[in-house]
Amino acid sequence: MAANLQAPGYSPEPSIRELYQSVRARTLEIVAPLEIEDYVIQTAEFMSPPRWHIGHTSWFFETVLQKYQSGYQTYREDFLFFFNSYYEGFGPRIERPKRGTRSRPTVAETKTYRAHIDEQMVRFIEDVSLSDDADEILRIVRLGLEHEMQHQELLVYDIKHLLCDQFAAPMKPLPEASAEVTGMVEIQGGLFELGFESTGRDAGEPQAGMPALRGFAWDNEKPLHKVWLEDFQIDRALVSVGDYLDFMNDGGYQNFRWWHSAGWEKVNTEHWQAPLYWEQHDSEWMIRDFGGLHRAIDKTDEPVSHVSFLEASAYAKWAGKRLPTEAEWEKAATCSQPNSRQNFPWGAARPDESRANLFENGLWSVAPIGAFPGGQTAQGCHQMIGDVWEWTVSDYVPYPGFKTEFDEYNDKWFVGQKVLRGGSFATPQIHIRSTYRNFFYPHERWMIAGFRCAK
Ligand SMILES: [Fe+2]
Repeated sequence: MAANLQAPGYSPEPSIRELYQSVRARTLEIVAPLEIEDYVIQTAEFMSPPRWHIGHTSWFFETVLQKYQSGYQTYREDFLFFFNSYYEGFGPRIERPKRGTRSRPTVAETKTYRAHIDEQMVRFIEDVSLSDDADEILRIVRLGLEHEMQHQELLVYDIKHLLCDQFAAPMKPLPEASAEVTGMVEIQGGLFELGFESTGRDAGEPQAGMPALRGFAWDNEKPLHKVWLEDFQIDRALVSVGDYLDFMNDGGYQNFRWWHSAGWEKVNTEHWQAPLYWEQHDSEWMIRDFGGLHRAIDKTDEPVSHVSFLEASAYAKWAGKRLPTEAEWEKAATCSQPNSRQNFPWGAARPDESRANLFENGLWSVAPIGAFPGGQTAQGCHQMIGDVWEWTVSDYVPYPGFKTEFDEYNDKWFVGQKVLRGGSFATPQIHIRSTYRNFFYPHERWMIAGFRCAK
């Protein structure tokens, strides 16, 4: 397929030092409303205490300093153990479920460590920018910043699990829906080029002195490769709370025939009756979020979230539909006409607050369906970027020709997980792409995940 590529409409890029400082500052902004006790509690094996996130993201940059800064002295050996996540190559580490079992290092010590790493890193970036291997090293710095943005999103999930409506999130008011979004669109099949194009369209133009700023993508989004798609239909809207209530009221959680075996087992052993953060009060379903406790029937026009792949699949079967593959999702999001392709559902311009509900919108919540008509695709699919990560039926496996670019980062997770697309209200604007492949286990639902169906 000859792609008819549009010129990227990028705005001027910040320098890597400016990017470093703004990303690092945002992590601290997210945790600012926490009280000291909140930083160290681990409320579930899958979440991490906020103190661990702010230390771990600094540890990540300390590994860069250890490797590339000659004469760098390790800050504290015990921090290497406490703040390593899962990297075998960086030595022993505390077991994940035990991150919340220690009161030391203290929050103050962790913040001092963070400030020390920042001081070192800013100087390092200035020095390295003039060196011959600047491209390679600054690419690792950029990767560290993308890693930090992933942890910013995880912090939002984890703070929600820890405190939910007790957290004083700096929430802005929700926008109103300005378009009615119903039905499905027909997408023509054929050969489709899936993934990130390392040159041309996706990469942008290199900038002197600012390598690695444009065209960042994870190794798991590459290489671009051809896949065959049959004609398909995909929902214009995300599945809403109202849609999902219909499924529940029709006995969705009581009827084995909609469920995969693994899902039915969860329904029975963990007594699932509704998405995570839904509570029943006097036989009425309520949803708790950062804004408080709300009647589900007052939220029927919002995308459903905190559902697992197993629940999304059960809903789709009940509705006589299915989940899209990731290639179908990407084609719907990026192809405005059969032989053209663009970076985002709306075109080439980067996400902004008028097009998608991402972290910068400051909603700390999903937005009503139809609240971002400026972000729809030419064929009328809304909110493909932002609001909720969308489950696909695709297994998280390497694309043909995959080459790892950073050991143990993405490649070690290529088994047993499902791909999600599109970003959520906790994803930073600069972090998301239409080719971005997020991944979680099919039963997980503490992250901000929803879905739309295909046929
Ligand atoms: Fe990490």
